[in-house]
Parts: sequence; C-alpha cells; structure tokens
Amino acid sequence: MHTGKGQVAELILLDGGRAARISCPVDLIPAPGQYLLAGDDSNAPLPVPLYCMDSAPDSVAVAPWRHFIASPIPDHWAPGTEIYLRGPLGNGFKLPASARKVALIALGVSPSRLRGLIRPALSQGVAVVFVCDSQLENLSDDVEVQPLSALGEVIVWAEYAAFDVTREDLTGWVERLRGLNQLSLLKEAQIFIQTPIPCGGVAECGVCAVVTKSGWKMACKDGPVFALGEL
Ligand code: FES
Repeated sequence: MHTGKGQVAELILLDGGRAARISCPVDLIPAPGQYLLAGDDSNAPLPVPLYCMDSAPDSVAVAPWRHFIASPIPDHWAPGTEIYLRGPLGNGFKLPASARKVALIALGVSPSRLRGLIRPALSQGVAVVFVCDSQLENLSDDVEVQPLSALGEVIVWAEYAAFDVTREDLTGWVERLRGLNQLSLLKEAQIFIQTPIPCGGVAECGVCAVVTKSGWKMACKDGPVFALGEL
C-alpha cells in the first residue's frame, strides 16, 4: 500500500453519474476491483473510496490521469482540488489468462466499476459482453452490450464472469443466478460486493461485513471482490 497526493483534473458525467479525472501517482493506480481511499487531508475521518475505471498501464504514458468513480464524488471537489490518497486496497478481479469469452455483469448497479476490466480483457484478445440495464457511454466498439434480460444466455456463452452488486441485493441476485441452473457452466465467476468501507480495514469497524460460506468476511480487505462460489 502507498500514500500520495492526487489532484482532480476534471469532473465529468459518465454512465449517468458523476465521475472524476484524477491525476494520480502510478504506484497508486488500483487494479480492477481494488480501490483507493481519498481525503482532503492525510487524516480525513471519512475518506472516500475511489474505483478506477481505466486501469490499463499502457495508457500511463498517454495521460497522467485516470477516471475514477466514488459513491458519490464529494460536492466540493473541483478541478484543481488536491486530495490525499491511500492504496491500492482490497482484493480485485483476476481475469483468467485462459478465458476467451468474458462477461461483465452489473446487477442493478452502475456498470462503471466493471469498466476497468475492459481494456485488460481486450488486450488478451478475448470477446467481451457487457450486461446491464443502465446507460453505457464511450464504450469500445469491440464490446457487445446486452440487457439483464439476456443474463441466462450470456452465462451459457461466457467462460468467465465478473459481477457487480450491492450487499443489500446480493442474496436476491445469488438466488436468481442459482435459479438459472447455468452457473456451473462458467469456468470462473467473481463478484464485486458494494458496501460502505469507511475505515478500509484500519480500524476494523466491521461496517463492510459480508456473510460467506466460510463465515464473516470484510469487504474492505477480503474483498470487495469475492469468488461467486464462496457466497
Ligand atoms: S471498512 Fe472498517 S472493517 Fe471494513
């Protein structure tokens, strides 16, 4: 884990929500599914978790900033605002090198957190399908988009699936996925569980607790990405 300073370069609208371009030291750039904690000073009591939407290292030389989303981006952030960053934190997605067909599936949430997987997947030469019912903007022409109503078909097609869901909706969606009776066809599936992560594991506050087959886990450090089979 590293600490450092970043700066808000621009605020933008993406996928129907606010996002920020933040210039960020390269060693702080989180992998897909990992996060940074950002605050106005190095001891901010309630830091903001930031998720990177374009984590590809090959664009470092092209642009000194990355696109991040938070829930929500603080109102007082403006171009030029300096922020203190800590991270990368948590366990992110691990795209299997052998997967040739990848599905990115936003279960009733913004698709933005899964965007960080697009470039690594395309650079592996795999076919990518994004499944969501939300607006997706500025998407590569190489990515196919399907609605959630096509979930069953996409799961039959995919070799690896990355899901994103809120903790509140997790149980309902896991039951629905099991009801499709097709999860066993996937070689591998991981799921990002959205919870508040106020302390990032430092104070062991327990706010991010998630029930898994092996007991309670902390989304801030054991996740936020878990193997779907663990739930
Ligand atoms: S956010 Fe405090 S333990 Fe996870």
